[in-house]
Amino acid sequence: MSEPASQPVVEMRDIVKTFPGVRALAGVSFDVRPGEIHALVGKNGAGKSTLMQILNGLYPQDSGEIYVRGEKIERMSTARAKDVGIALVAQHVKFVPGLSIAENIFGGNLPQTAGGFVDWKRLNREATERLRRFGLEIDVRRKMETVSVAERQMIEIARALFADASVVILDEPTAPLPKHEVQMLFEFVRRLRAQGASFIYISHYLEEVFELADRVTVLRNGELVGTVPTAELTQPKLVKLISGADVERFRRPPREVGGEPVLEIVELDRPGVYEDVTLTLHAGEVVGLTGLEGSGNGALARGLFGLEPMGDGRVTLAGKPYAVLSPSEALSRGVAYLPRDRHGLGIVGIRSVRDNISMSVLNRLANALGFINVFRERAMVQRFVETLGIKTAGLTQPVENLSGGNQQKVVVAKLVATEPRALLLDEPTQGVDVQAKVEILRIVDDLTRRGVAVAIVSDELSELIDMCDRILVFYRGRIVREFQKGTDVMTPERILDAIEGGAEEVAHAVA
Ligand SMILES: Nc1ncnc2c1ncn2[C@@H]1O[C@H](COP(=O)(O)OP(=O)(O)OP(=O)(O)O)[C@@H](O)[C@H]1O
Ligand SMILES: [Mg+2]
Repeated sequence: MSEPASQPVVEMRDIVKTFPGVRALAGVSFDVRPGEIHALVGKNGAGKSTLMQILNGLYPQDSGEIYVRGEKIERMSTARAKDVGIALVAQHVKFVPGLSIAENIFGGNLPQTAGGFVDWKRLNREATERLRRFGLEIDVRRKMETVSVAERQMIEIARALFADASVVILDEPTAPLPKHEVQMLFEFVRRLRAQGASFIYISHYLEEVFELADRVTVLRNGELVGTVPTAELTQPKLVKLISGADVERFRRPPREVGGEPVLEIVELDRPGVYEDVTLTLHAGEVVGLTGLEGSGNGALARGLFGLEPMGDGRVTLAGKPYAVLSPSEALSRGVAYLPRDRHGLGIVGIRSVRDNISMSVLNRLANALGFINVFRERAMVQRFVETLGIKTAGLTQPVENLSGGNQQKVVVAKLVATEPRALLLDEPTQGVDVQAKVEILRIVDDLTRRGVAVAIVSDELSELIDMCDRILVFYRGRIVREFQKGTDVMTPERILDAIEGGAEEVAHAVA
């Protein structure tokens, strides 16, 4: 590289890391410059999180060196990482409920009055000033639990910078964020870069990488593919570097629709959440449910699965009244749901891949005496691991040892194993790499060919357009528009316009 040699803030050389049965990193080198946003990309299980956890001192490397501002760090630990200015901001920031933003920013060190009480005035004033220095205008008296996920991340980044961090690691920060919060986070990150902070940014959203990053490092199977300035890349080139091959995006071919109604919803109302929702999911159909955060689409899926009250109205499943009170009841009726937040109820991390996939279908695998047929169980799980390309050292690996995207694939396998009649998916491909995305979408398509009715809650418009027979747009709790596959109006622009309220005038035109 011929650019002026500004010394890297962080340099990792030949990092090797092995877990039992897995070589997670096979000699990876990586560096970050001051004031740079450096994206780290690669397929699920490529080693991205592991590399960053080593940099943050969570695990020791087997071999290889870490330098910070030219100085070799003999033994990295989380305390040492903090000392030398490296901070990892989690996707889901942990906080103590009940504390205000200001208290959270100051941690244990609250300013005190002469009398030994907490000096609230000073606390709030200083917290406000600190955040303002980074361009964040937030009422610091608010409780942490009222703050949006993106704001929490920004507060956490700010907090790391107050503690003199100069390199901030963001591991898939945007996965749980609605679109407008992504932009808010990006503007914040760019502003801080301008002030000299460096960011390491892990993401599967390649558009985001191009939007944000100065350079990109690609890992594949624990190996370094290369580090390239973003300006020298195109998206197809990057996809090729990531997967080692060209990956076609999956477009669901036109399918004969017109199957039996599976889930019929008539005038469903849940005050303040959604109103007058009427829609039918037919066998073999994929219906997209989109809208702004809080517009009712996600809540409808949660309600139908018994995670939240469903509301009042008429709902039938295969012609029979459907009013479930719990997820287990929904599952036993044949309605499965993939949550957006896989850490919530998708999986049990300490249990094995095999247990997780077969957990929800144990009674089907049991014989008349109630014994589990272990051969059938193994065969079923093995089949899922293969078709979904789940990267695991073995079926008995605890799921928490899998990479994030591979955990998501386990959740999908688990749902498919229940052989549902209706499948509700909330952002099904979030956090999975381009190839896994294709695999997941293909499985969904296969299910529809077997007569399953599918609803996808998402704001990934290109994915909805590729997959759905119909896309319904929610706005403030109502379905305001319906787009049909194959019509020329099913374009991202038109859908986006409806999502943002541009279709309000036709609010009642859709039945
Ligand atoms: N604690 C662990 N025990 C055993 N294996 C592990 C552990 N942590 C990670 N691995 C394995 O190391 C490999 C790299 O995982 P890592 O989490 O770094 O991938 P990643 O690139 O972050 O993937 P994703 O995009 O899916 O998050 C994977 O094969 C994973 O199963
Ligand atoms: Mg990861």
